[in-house]
Amino acid sequence: MSAQKQLSYIVNPGGALLGRITVPGDKSISHRSIMLGALAEGSTEIHGFLQGEDSLATLQAFRSMGVKIDGPEQGRVIVHGVGMHGLQTPEQPLDLGNSGTSMRLLSGLLAGQDFDVTLTGDASLSGRPMNRVLQPLSQMGAEIGSEQGGTAPLRIKGGSQLTGIDYVLPMASAQVKSCVLLAGLYATGKTCVTEPAPTRDHTERMLQGFGYATERQGARVCLQGGGKLTSCTVQVPADISSAAFFLVGASIAPGSDLILEAVGMNPTRTGVIDILSLMGANIVLENERVSGGEPVADIRVTASELQGTQIPEELVPLAIDEFPAIFIAAACASGETVLTGAEELRVKESDRIQVMADGLLALGIDARATPDGIVIQGGELQAGQVNSHGDHRIAMAFAMAALRASGPVEILDCANVNTSFPGFAELACGAGLDLTQN
Ligand code: S3P
Repeated sequence: MSAQKQLSYIVNPGGALLGRITVPGDKSISHRSIMLGALAEGSTEIHGFLQGEDSLATLQAFRSMGVKIDGPEQGRVIVHGVGMHGLQTPEQPLDLGNSGTSMRLLSGLLAGQDFDVTLTGDASLSGRPMNRVLQPLSQMGAEIGSEQGGTAPLRIKGGSQLTGIDYVLPMASAQVKSCVLLAGLYATGKTCVTEPAPTRDHTERMLQGFGYATERQGARVCLQGGGKLTSCTVQVPADISSAAFFLVGASIAPGSDLILEAVGMNPTRTGVIDILSLMGANIVLENERVSGGEPVADIRVTASELQGTQIPEELVPLAIDEFPAIFIAAACASGETVLTGAEELRVKESDRIQVMADGLLALGIDARATPDGIVIQGGELQAGQVNSHGDHRIAMAFAMAALRASGPVEILDCANVNTSFPGFAELACGAGLDLTQN
């Protein structure tokens, strides 16, 4: 373990979150802007790009495949597109670090290239399930080798002619949907994906923005292979998944009054607002507008008395990354919160059900992990030490929990906060959190 990986947070209790802040750019949209920009004809200008390790891993992967990319400089990136067939063989395996989105989307995008390429990642990413992308890609005619059990490294053989498929997703996953659609760009005929529940639709929206037609009928989205992408300008909104920590922090800390500026409000991402509102949070959307093809708003959140709830299962995919934060809200609510239908949380950057249950228990909260969710009894958070297991969202969620704890909360293994939220500690301190890094 490197020295950097040993980074801890110590967060003292008390205080309120106040003022106006802007959280960094949306991670999902940032990844896709580099991918589609690289394959487009012409130069794509990106504003608000997330300069976090995950999206930078995607950026670096395309540089390694011969794409000239200027920046990022204060969120501005220019990708000099090479066209659908202009990528070059990378000299080394592409190291995607902690980023599941990079690996799953790139496996689709690269399956139809004419060169061999290997995708690797860190220990967490190398343990995450990749069969979910390997299966549809092999049905399309791709040749991809993995470790036993379907994990990275993934070895993609170039020169396969892909054929369009009509794929019914076995789980609600935007990453798998996007992987199949990106492979479909290189396939003969039509590629369709049907999802069991709506998942984030940034790939479909951005394809349209780059002039590539997609067709949606209900739960099924299709595209025709063999088209081209035309460069455009991408305005990346602030990431609602990063805003979520502050929505929870300001809801649970008495006296809080916080505005989060220009947050992406894509309806496939706003489950966290629905769930917190069901729990009695005071969340108001202001200045709603459309920016770069995505709805955005300023969000005002003030402290409130939260109540436990039964989380509706249809909201699970729409809040999939926000559950660590939502569990902290549940710990501070009166009564019981029950989550079901969320087994996907077990295969994120960590097993988020178990790791959150362990952390909540360490802070004196009655939290019981179930196979597909959790049951949390609201209570009084105590001082204590929790291990984030290198999971960025677990670390940030427990940092917010300290606002209501009876003593300091120490959080171990926080360096990966930089994968999605560079500057989190500074921004949180500016808003009122008493956080020191060790
Ligand atoms: C993402 C989709 C989600 C999410 C991840 C980003 C994306 O994963 O958890 O952080 O950008 O498509 P799944 O689609 O696998 O649930």
